[in-house]
Amino acid sequence: MIIEDNKIKKQKALTKEHNPFLSASSIKNEDNYEKNIRPLTFDDYIGQNSIKNTLKISIEASKKRNTILDHLLFYGPPGLGKTTLATIIAHETGANIKITSAPSIERPRDIIGILMQLKEGDVLFIDEIHRLNKIAEEILYPAMEDFSIDLTTGKSQSVKTMRIPIPKFTLIGATTKAGALSGPLRDRFGIIHRLEFYTIDELAQIIKRTSKILNFDIDDNGALEIAKRSRLTPRIANRLVKRSADWAIVKGDGKITKQIATDALNALEIDDLGLDVTDRALLNLMINSFDGGPVGIETLAVALGEDIRTIEDVYEPYLIQQGLLNRTPRGRKATKLAYKHLNIKIDSSQLELPL
Ligand SMILES: Nc1ncnc2c1ncn2[C@@H]1O[C@H](COP(=O)(O)OP(=O)(O)OP(=O)(O)O)[C@@H](O)[C@H]1O
Ligand SMILES: [Mg+2]
Repeated sequence: MIIEDNKIKKQKALTKEHNPFLSASSIKNEDNYEKNIRPLTFDDYIGQNSIKNTLKISIEASKKRNTILDHLLFYGPPGLGKTTLATIIAHETGANIKITSAPSIERPRDIIGILMQLKEGDVLFIDEIHRLNKIAEEILYPAMEDFSIDLTTGKSQSVKTMRIPIPKFTLIGATTKAGALSGPLRDRFGIIHRLEFYTIDELAQIIKRTSKILNFDIDDNGALEIAKRSRLTPRIANRLVKRSADWAIVKGDGKITKQIATDALNALEIDDLGLDVTDRALLNLMINSFDGGPVGIETLAVALGEDIRTIEDVYEPYLIQQGLLNRTPRGRKATKLAYKHLNIKIDSSQLELPL
């Protein structure tokens, strides 16, 4: 059973409104659509093989020992499958999962309430765990280590602390920013995994799986074209296949071919490397207004009208992975490849500078 906080649903709806890939009508259907295509078992979860293999061993070992699975932390860029893995683990261990997100845990009683409601063997999933406040973190420490919470009663001189046992549970934390997690919290996770970008081939498999579930007619080259432009990210692959299916129905005979996918994605201004309007605006800004950099992230954020976190978490990881942007101690720099991709000549005075 999956229980999701209303606050998280609201937050998700908000981020979706800012997503350039989603049309207004698709936002309403997104929740159902996500539910249908989210893998429920390791067999359906494509790629991330080394993580899957070590997780399967940990799950089997905990079953054989008849103990609870260690607390797990997943980190990596958005849309790579952290939440999905948490739900798969719950499913594969037969546990109930309670889903919450750190920003919705404001007061001590929020986290205490969540912990007290847990049942033996439950999985507690905390998304964006790096945003947990200090008080909530401190309540979580004994809960993670000793399965107990320390409650204080009374005021000033008569303050008493009571240690209350809670059922044994597995905490799964997810974050796009492992570096922002406090040391003591990170140390309390027995298993830590970084999710990697997917290969084009894995994305093509994900696209074909999604198409099958949603009854889209797609050929291998159509799947490959969408895969190439999906920023190596399953969530984006799933959105783009949906947009391509719309295009196939309206402009073609219903089948997603290479041509249909190309036309659909071009119309969305997603280029052959998967960059969207904002990615290109970011690189253009660095090149045209700052001679390619180095330029500080704060300056870029203001000039682009985006917040720093979105640039760092959503845009940069893929641009860095593609070798289009470098992070240096003095700021961000566009690489030679970025000039080439945008068809911009490097002016001769720049040539001596290492880009
Ligand atoms: N390995 C996979 N195989 C098939 N589909 C996947 C896989 N990983 C993710 N997906 C699909 O991509 C979507 C996004 O994954 P998920 O929500 O788990 O990402 P996330 O890492 O939790 O992102 P965020 O950081 O934004 O919370 C899911 O709905 C799921 O359908
Ligand atoms: Mg998630």
